[in-house]
Amino acid sequence: MTNHRIDNGRRKFLLTVAAGITRLTAGSLPVRVLAQPAGEPPLSISTIGAGREGGALGALFVKAGHRMMFSSRHPDTLKGLVDELGPLARVGTVAEAVEFGDVVMEAVPYTAMEQIGRDYGNTLAKKVLVIDVSNPIARRDGAGIVKWVDEHGGAGLATAKFLGAHTVRAFNAIGSAKLSTDAHRQGELVGVPIAGDDAHAMDIASSLIREIGFEPVVIGGLAMGKYLVPGTPLGGEHTADEIRQIATNLH
Ligand SMILES: NC(=O)c1ccc[n+]([C@@H]2O[C@H](COP(=O)([O-])OP(=O)(O)OC[C@H]3O[C@@H](n4cnc5c(N)ncnc54)[C@H](OP(=O)(O)O)[C@@H]3O)[C@@H](O)[C@H]2O)c1
Repeated sequence: MTNHRIDNGRRKFLLTVAAGITRLTAGSLPVRVLAQPAGEPPLSISTIGAGREGGALGALFVKAGHRMMFSSRHPDTLKGLVDELGPLARVGTVAEAVEFGDVVMEAVPYTAMEQIGRDYGNTLAKKVLVIDVSNPIARRDGAGIVKWVDEHGGAGLATAKFLGAHTVRAFNAIGSAKLSTDAHRQGELVGVPIAGDDAHAMDIASSLIREIGFEPVVIGGLAMGKYLVPGTPLGGEHTADEIRQIATNLH
């Protein structure tokens, strides 16, 4: 996009600094504060898939102050959504979203993953973070895809084949209808189990999750992404302590 001229080297540096400081401060400071040039959100985030889940998560990132591109193969259908969200939100094609985001979120039916990987995998692999919200679901995507994913180590490792090593699985089993009321919940926050192999990507994902009002809980590397799908013990909503407890029995 023409109004998104980012100095990628500087941004990469800022993100590296942000992640480093985030580690030093036990993750208590949001990336937005650490990396933000005065008056400008530090991250441009895009979503491939702006349906129920991608749309709801994208709205939370906008509320947290990030620039957000919602994409569709039919971008006109998203005008109402971004009009409601204000100037930080914009609409693009899938190709524009892939270019726009420092962080790209994937919230598509798993059947779309192979094609997205084929068309955009090289570019996505260079992103600091690709958040994989997508799930292989037999009744929707077909038993063949679920079998293929299982044979390739589960959803985390399988997705990384298409989207690259900076993939982090997150938000896979929190229903779209609950996201806005769960965010910044009173009392104990809702925990978000995450799995990924790249430490920098995991740091950024953790900061973003805190910013939008949830508590990230690292479950392990991408191999543990197989548990971040609906129907596993981690499915549904749990506090961070409950997630840690459940995860002790998962390997
Ligand atoms: N809904 C939930 O509560 C929930 C919770 C956690 C995780 N998830 C997971 O999130 C993913 C999306 O679920 P959803 O409920 O949000 O589905 P949805 O409402 O049907 O939205 C799917 C989105 O995917 C896009 N899409 C489909 N094929 C595409 C392709 N080939 N290239 C680019 N974009 C494509 C569609 O965009 P177009 O406008 O181009 O058609 C649409 O915006 C699924 O894998 C689901 O398992 C959902």
